[in-house]
Amino acid sequence: MTFTPGPFPNTRMRRMRRDAFSRRLMREHRLSADDLIYPVFVLEGAGKTEQVASMPGVSRVSLDNLLRVAEESVSLGIPALALFPVVGAERKSADAAEAWNPDGLVPRVVQALKSRFPELGVITDVALDPYTSHGQDGLIDPADPRGYVMNDETLAALEKQALCHAAAGADVVAPSDMMDGRIGRIRTALEANGHIHTRILAYSAKYASSFYGPFRDAVGSAGNLGKGNKYTYQMDPANSDEAIREVALDIAEGADMFMVKPGMPYLDIVRRVKSELQVPTYAYQVSGEYAMLKAAAQNGWLDERACALEALLAFKRAGADGILTYFALDAARWLKEDAAG
Ligand code: PBG
Repeated sequence: MTFTPGPFPNTRMRRMRRDAFSRRLMREHRLSADDLIYPVFVLEGAGKTEQVASMPGVSRVSLDNLLRVAEESVSLGIPALALFPVVGAERKSADAAEAWNPDGLVPRVVQALKSRFPELGVITDVALDPYTSHGQDGLIDPADPRGYVMNDETLAALEKQALCHAAAGADVVAPSDMMDGRIGRIRTALEANGHIHTRILAYSAKYASSFYGPFRDAVGSAGNLGKGNKYTYQMDPANSDEAIREVALDIAEGADMFMVKPGMPYLDIVRRVKSELQVPTYAYQVSGEYAMLKAAAQNGWLDERACALEALLAFKRAGADGILTYFALDAARWLKEDAAG
């Protein structure tokens, strides 16, 4: 920028900040319910609500209770839910076959949601970790003493899982596994099977983060993963150029939406993706970020509402078109209250 503002007192930056009207007029970014995706944990059974200890205000619910959550989401103007299944140990296996069972939990929930709330977007997670007995997102090489997660063998499983979700009526399939080539593989399969409208939300820049801890408690995969880690497929938090390559590959392979995950510690990545690639960009404010804000609020150390809304607005400023957040329902409610004055 070559423009240099005139010196003080011609320029007084505080003039525009003096009154609410001029602050409102120069506000560059706004958060609205349209920006929010609400992640939900669903389990088998009926009449069930289990609180997640490390995520106050978040629970795992059975389908009947999820329908009430969906109804509230619609009434608050939230565009979409992201489904995460809690799978019982008896349905986990080394080959993750439950992941593409057409009568499994996810396809049944998708069908129920789409028939009751056709206008509500339904996003499904494509990854094997809820279904593997070892908690990894892919299939493990039995011959490898270090338990390497096999790429190409996993692609075949992810393809079956994505097709199963699309057949059940999922609007968006969201591969969060970080295998190479999965977007292209899934896109080709969707097209070949007539699912030409199914959107792909690629978790393109998904980091091997320690902020996922509470989520792994919520879905019960922490115990299965044990001391294992996901360093051979999720990205190194030290890297930024690599994220741009990942998103560029997913653009070429046919994704429609692009996720950066986690969120707040990675706002620089959100900004780079938006500025350098100009694609629909999303950020995932993950479980650990939610837990930190909640814990501080519960201690009376932070104002929950003000801090949550500030954090969500910061995603917009960084360039995100939408935010996947456990605060979605509360945030939509707060925004509605603010609009009502
Ligand atoms: C894995 C998956 C993860 C999250 C959602 N799906 C991370 C992981 O276990 O590696 C984390 C979300 C969160 O922390 O809120 N497919």
